Amino acid sequence: MKIETLDTKDYEKVVKTTLKEGVCSFIAVHNTKRGPALGGIRFYPYATEKEALDDALNLARAMTYKASLAQLPLGGGKAVIMGDPKKIKSPELLKTYGEFVNALEGKYITAKDVGVTLKDMNTISQTCKYVAGTTKGGSGDPSLMTAFGVYHGLRAASQFLWNTPSLKNRKVLIQGLGGVGWALAKHLLDDGAEIWATDTDSIILKHAVLELGIKPASPDELFHTPLEIYSPCAMGQIIDARSIPHLRSSGIRLIAGAANNQLTHEQADGWRLHRERILYAPDYVINAGGLINIACELDGFYDSARAKRLTEKIYSVLLEIFLKSKKEDRPTALIAQEMALQNIRKV
Ligand code: NAI
Repeated sequence: MKIETLDTKDYEKVVKTTLKEGVCSFIAVHNTKRGPALGGIRFYPYATEKEALDDALNLARAMTYKASLAQLPLGGGKAVIMGDPKKIKSPELLKTYGEFVNALEGKYITAKDVGVTLKDMNTISQTCKYVAGTTKGGSGDPSLMTAFGVYHGLRAASQFLWNTPSLKNRKVLIQGLGGVGWALAKHLLDDGAEIWATDTDSIILKHAVLELGIKPASPDELFHTPLEIYSPCAMGQIIDARSIPHLRSSGIRLIAGAANNQLTHEQADGWRLHRERILYAPDYVINAGGLINIACELDGFYDSARAKRLTEKIYSVLLEIFLKSKKEDRPTALIAQEMALQNIRKV
């Protein structure tokens, strides 16, 4: 396998290979000061190599911050495979990807992300020595723990904004009812929240209306319904100069969801939200439950009760970020980043 090393400023190692003709893959290792870089593999039909590489770089950096703020002995990394998984995914391709990961000799541990299933992880583990989140590891699908963590993050934000952790009668819009969004909807409904949801898959949305009793919202009317909380649980880069005024006019006071890289421009959009008095729960803090869950498997004995206890701590980390943001009159996105970097420097 021919592996090319790319010279990328601020990253420890970035490599590229061709898994089979026409299928390019990148692995980005951002920082391993706290431990080996753990991050998912995203299998996605990127339009260009630049788009794929940028995604790997942004996601890898966020993984460093996520592990750091969750106090895990891990660094940040991410892998991407370019292509439509529904069309080109095969056991051979996944096994070749496993060998690609081995070439980094443990600097990067691969796990599941968008476009990859638990079964795929089992296939990757046939060739790969550095893999987490397989059936054998015991931690299972991380989505449920991610949703549990997002729920506790929402409780922290509610405590900060409305002086109660309860989400009873809060009007919440969930964007994306996949593994995380669906489980999150259940937690919120149990707590008495009123849920609107949108999903590009109309069948999932129909199921959610029938099974959960949520209200469907079409993307057109998304921000025309009076709402208080927006929970992005689909793709990232959805918060920017264009969407923020719509969020404001529909009454959104809080953005708190699982999607990675929600802000298109971390600094500028962080400040925009701050000026508009929309509280933002930084994505890599609130969605750390899945990573925490997998990290608990790396000790060799997975204990779900321990994973839950560690995930519940998202509540206090977020509350600290919100209070600091208020005290210093600066965006939560900036405060979170500084705290993450401080934790890395302390090691
Ligand atoms: P998923 O693939 O199970 O679900 C995503 C859902 O969003 C699907 O139902 C899809 O039809 C829908 N969707 C896609 N584009 C949409 C759009 N533009 N508008 C509305 N709906 C749309 O993904 P999963 O696992 O639930 O993850 C959701 C997000 O959370 C992703 O951004 C992922 O990277 C992030 N995340 C997930 C973690 C996990 O443990 N699964 C951990 C940390 C972050």
